[in-house]
Order: sequence, then structure tokens, then C-alpha cells
Amino acid sequence: MGFQKKISVLAMAIALTSTASSFAAEEAKTDAKKAGAEAPKAWMNKKLTPEQRTDLVLKEMTMDEKLKLVFGYFGTDAPWKGFKRPVESITQSAGFVYGVPRLGIPNLWEADAGVGVASQGGPDVRGATALPSGIATAATWDLKTAFAGGAMIGSESRAFGFNVQLAGGVNIMREPRNGRNFEYGGEDPLLAGLIVGEQIRGIQSNHMVSTLKHYAFNNQETNRFSLNANIDDKSARMSDLLALQIAKEQGNPGSVMCSYNRVNGHYACENDYLLNEVLKKDWGFKGWVMSDWGATHSTVPAANNGLDQQSGIPFDASEYFGAALKEAIQNGWVSEERFNDMARRVLHPMFEFGLVDNPVSPNVKSIDFKTNGLVSQKDSEESIVLLKNDANLLPMAKFYKKIAVIGSHADVGVLSGGGSSQVYPVGGVAGYRGGPAVFPGPMLYYPSSPMKAVQARALESKVTYNDGTDAKAAAKLAAESDIVLVFVNQWTAESVDVPNLSLPDNQDEMVAAVAKANSKTVVVLQTGGPVLMPWLSNVGAVLEAWYPGSNGGEAIARVLFGEVNPSGHLPATFPASESQLPRPVLDGYPEVKDARIEVNYKEGAAVGYKWFDLKGLKPLFPFGYGLSYSEFALGDLKAEVKNGLINASFSVKNTGGVAGKEVAQVYVSPVTAQWESPKRLGGFQKVDLKAGASTTAKVTVDPRLVAVYETASKTWKIAEGDYKVSLASHAMDAKATSVTVHLSAATLDVNGKFVK
Ligand code: BGC
Repeated sequence: MGFQKKISVLAMAIALTSTASSFAAEEAKTDAKKAGAEAPKAWMNKKLTPEQRTDLVLKEMTMDEKLKLVFGYFGTDAPWKGFKRPVESITQSAGFVYGVPRLGIPNLWEADAGVGVASQGGPDVRGATALPSGIATAATWDLKTAFAGGAMIGSESRAFGFNVQLAGGVNIMREPRNGRNFEYGGEDPLLAGLIVGEQIRGIQSNHMVSTLKHYAFNNQETNRFSLNANIDDKSARMSDLLALQIAKEQGNPGSVMCSYNRVNGHYACENDYLLNEVLKKDWGFKGWVMSDWGATHSTVPAANNGLDQQSGIPFDASEYFGAALKEAIQNGWVSEERFNDMARRVLHPMFEFGLVDNPVSPNVKSIDFKTNGLVSQKDSEESIVLLKNDANLLPMAKFYKKIAVIGSHADVGVLSGGGSSQVYPVGGVAGYRGGPAVFPGPMLYYPSSPMKAVQARALESKVTYNDGTDAKAAAKLAAESDIVLVFVNQWTAESVDVPNLSLPDNQDEMVAAVAKANSKTVVVLQTGGPVLMPWLSNVGAVLEAWYPGSNGGEAIARVLFGEVNPSGHLPATFPASESQLPRPVLDGYPEVKDARIEVNYKEGAAVGYKWFDLKGLKPLFPFGYGLSYSEFALGDLKAEVKNGLINASFSVKNTGGVAGKEVAQVYVSPVTAQWESPKRLGGFQKVDLKAGASTTAKVTVDPRLVAVYETASKTWKIAEGDYKVSLASHAMDAKATSVTVHLSAATLDVNGKFVK
């Protein structure tokens, strides 16, 4: 190409930048063609909007190229299916989608999941930093921590060469026995939605896409591929869907993953109501819907009802979005317009979040695991919940001569949750490895030993370990010790629920025996969610550490010794027994494979504490609960209504002797109007205060939280009347104070905006 021609092509490209119109792009293309030059890639102009860039590149694509964008592969060999991963995919990864290199559209490299860069089990797992479990991050009640964790795992994901992180799980906890609760954000739509939304935002701050999932009502693993979740639209919009809606608003995810189960009779990945109506039309979602791995069941219904991309070939029964989709388009069963919409939806977030402009590199970048470990540790330290602390047994004085550490492989490390979200530790798996040999196993412990971290802080003490498998031996050691740290756990994993809320493997009997032998017993729980504690009244202190992540041993020890004042609060109710639950027996348990069971969400939107409130039930520990080594006074509650919104202000004072953090919670309840339950969490603030210090804090209540959704008009209705605004430190706080405000009748659109 001659110099002159080059200039004219360049000039055209510049002209295009300023006019930013697809018309100009067309002109440029034709002129460039005439000039015999390669067409300028007008869509690479960063000054254009993602919409404009998407439209421009879409016009250049052939049908086969678009088909590639809507067809995803598993990123790991599946020999039992005769499947070999595409050579371009990343080893032991979740997914891969071909891009269109000739047009500068990169491949999509997809990694699981919410706590870090996971690896599918196999020979080439990668070591990465693991955050504490999702429910732990929800227990921080701290949006900054959630964002920081997301930003950190996103940076590792990119460094490994991924540009899509399959993170953003926000299935609210309807079912405390759900094996995946550890991946999610707890039972409240506001808390879960905000926390998970912030994690998504953090991940996407790395020029990548994060994936809100599992859309929707995948609230138990038992029969997850076949169950039918039944719920009415009104209850759905005020509970599970509200959590997803808030997470979507807060995080702006580039993709959404539809779930395995059926909802009101239709598979979630071919569910017109969920995908077309709620997600795309009502919420205005512009990104793409990908199926969960093995969740696509058809070509025409799936494409027409809103699925944009089939994932995880070879897990579906057929390559529905391969040749079958092409034929369906050619025969008019799926319109050209819908097909273009599918491709457009994949492309738009690639421009919006910078995947096109900042291509990932296949060469793994160096990662500062030390710094990232500290990000994880901070998250864990903010998340650990002090549930009981009699006679200030904690923080632990360093002068104990003999410290017993019992159970849960605390000599080796800390537990993690199992399944596709499994992050493998840096430097290879060390120490204990148990559980099932294949998916959802193995049961992995991260090599951050609580025992070693305790010993490092109590150099003068004799620290003795007992594995806790023999209650008598454990009790003997307890009797001979000055203080006992007993570690108990409940391993939970994708694809299996727990049969009940009791700790497995006779751990309850062991704790009871230990507590009988020594009243100075501190229990440290590592669980996926709520568990029962039959020994509670006999132990001195209890910490819920969840699955505490890469540096969990350090985090636990720092809390035990008071280097960190515990400030986590429960993001879910801990029931006193399974009989208190809406479904005392888990539906479908024990699982009969592929049974098409019906799960009826008869509790509607009264999930978690709302159910307990409604039924007047006293849980073991309420939602929002968490103690501190300090004490706090909440007061001076004022609430005013401005432009229809409730603004509450209040003071928080640290009345104790050490610095600490309190999670002040604002609940709202109608005086006359009828809701699904007496009250809802309306807002919260985590405040950090030195001993004796006080501050004022403010909370504005999302108007959807004082409204009731109306299906026929697709609006939220605020009923005229008085509403109680309460300030509390948990959902059943007897010391809560309240004021009353008056709200005028108002209507909000489907997204919670006031309708004039
Ligand atoms: C899980 C998803 C995960 C996908 C890819 C599925 O089994 O439900 O959460 O992202 O696998 O590994």
C-alpha cells in the first residue's frame, strides 16, 4: 500500500472517530475497499460507545463467526465423555469460547469462581489465593472488603490469562442445608445483593467480565438438575430475584448464568419469564446469559426464551447451539434478529469492560501471593463471628501454660468448600486431603495452620494437638490443659446437600466430652453455613470462622489473641432445630437421581429471619448477630422522609475498653400495611471506633424495602401509613430502639424508581 493511500485510510479512520456513526463506518469500509486497503477496524476506536462498537463489528461478522460466540466448551478434558478441551483453552479451567481474531475479538477464557481462581481437579491445578467463603464475606457486612476481595481475585484471574470469572453467586439461603451456601451471600436480599454486587464490581475492575449466578432458585443441590421450584411472581421479586436485582445494579455484571433447575415448570435456561421478561426487559440487562454447565436442554426454546450462549460442551445432551442452531436460524425457527441479539449480547460487555482493548496474555504473569494473602486475611478477620464469650474467656491471655488444640486438622490448615469453586493452594496441596476422591472432592485444607499460628503467639506455652477422632483422648488432653481450642467443621460442597444441620463424624459428642473436662473450652467452627450446637451452654466461647481462606489460620489466631477484635455478624439465621424451617425435611433427600421433584416455596418471600419473625420462632442465633471484645451503644435514632425516601441517622458509641467495629442495622416494619413478615433489613453501616469514641451514621432505605411488589402493574407499591424504623445490633435485639415515620402512598417502577 502506497504512502498516500495509507494517509487517506488514516484520515478516514480519524474522521470516523469524530462522527462516531455506523454510517461513517460503512463509508470508510467501502472507501477502504475501493482503495484496496485492509478495512480499518472502526470498532477498535475507544471513543465510540460499547453499543456503537458492537454494532460496527457485528456487521462484519459471518454467520459462522457469530455462532462461535454463542457456543462454549469445557476447559478441561473429560475422558469419560470422550472430550478433549480446545487446545487454546487454559488447563484445568471451567470454560472456553472462540472469539473472532480476524476482527480483534478475543477468545473468552473462563475461570470459576467466587473465592478465587479455581481449578478443575486433575494433574495441572494452579495454586491461587483463596478468599474466605462467600458467606464469610457477607458476614463482614463491609462493602469495601467485598470490593477489595473481588479486585484481588480478578487480578489473579487476569494474570493467569482469564478474562471471564464465573463469580457472583447470590442464591439466597432458603435452605440452610444447601451444599453451596458457602458460595453465596446469606439470606437477606439487601445484604447479599450489595456484597456480591461489590465483589462483581471488584472483579470487573480488572478489564474482565464477572457472572451473576445461578439464575434462579437453585437453592438446593439435591436434584438440582431436575427439580422444579415453584414460587409466585410477587414473592419471587421480593426475595431471590431482589437479591439478584440488587447485585446486578450494584455490580453491573457482564454476564448472567442460568441455573440447572426448573422454575414454575420450565428449565431456567429456557425460561421466558426469567430470562426475557425479568432479566432483560424489566431489569434492562445488556450482557449475555450463559447456561450452567449441562443446563441447556433445547435449541429453539432456549434461544427464543432468552439463552444467549450454551456453555460447557460436552455436558449437555446435545450441541444445541452448534449446527442445530444454524439450521434453526436458516429455517426461521430462530429469527436473524434474535441471533444477532445473542451475538450482540456477548460482544457488548467485551467492549464495555475492556476485554477487547486489554487482551489477556497466555503467559502467566507473576502474582504477589503474599500481598494477596493479606487481602484474603483481612476479609477473614472482618468475617469471623464471635457467638459466645462467657466471662471474657477471649481474647486469650498468652500466659496459659498448657494450650490444647483439638480437631479439624488444625495442626495442618483450614478447610475449604468443595466443587467447581475449589481454589487450590499456592505451592501445591499440603497436609491432609480427604473426602471423595472425585468431584466434588477432594476435601482440601489450606496450609495455614491455626495451631502453628497459636504457638507463634504463645511462645512460653506448651501447645499440644489431638485430632479429636477419639472423644475420650480429646477429653483427657482437655482435662490436662489450661485452655482448650477445639476446632470442628462441616465440609459442604457443590452437588450435595448436608442431610441435617448437625456437625458430622461425632464431633458434637467430642465437644461435649471436651467441655465436660474443661470449662475453658473455645469452639472454633469452620462450616458452610448454620449448624446446631447441642454443647453450647457448656462451652466458654464460640467463634464462627466459616471457610476462612488462604491465610485462615493466621486470621483465627489473631482473633483468638485479640490482635483483631471480631466484627463479623451472621448473614443468616442459625436455627435451634430443623423443625423450625419451612421445610423441616429437605425435599428430595435422600436423593433419587434425576427425580423430577417439586419444591414449593410456600414461605414465599419470608426467608430466614423473616420466617422466624412471622412464626414467632426463637433461633439459636439470629440474623445479624455478632459479639465483640468491646461493647457498643446505639442511640439518637432519627428518621425523616425526604422525597419519599426514609433517611435514618443515629449514633454509635464504643463503650468498651478496646477499639472495635459494630454493625449497626436498621430494620423497617409497617404499622398497618401487611408484608410477608413483620420486618425487613432496610440498611446497615459498619463503623470502626476507638475505645470511648462515638460517631454518627446515616442509612437511606431502598424504597423497594418499604414496598410490596404488584405483579399485574409490574410496580412496587408503598402503602400510605406509619412505619417503624428500628436501630438494632441484630434481627431480634431486645435493646432495639425505634421511631415512626409516615409514608405517603407511592408507586415505584419495576426497578424501584419513583413513578411521577
Ligand atoms: C457450577 C457453576 C460453575 C460451572 C463451571 C457448574 O457445575 O454450577 O457454578 O461455574 O459448573 O465449572
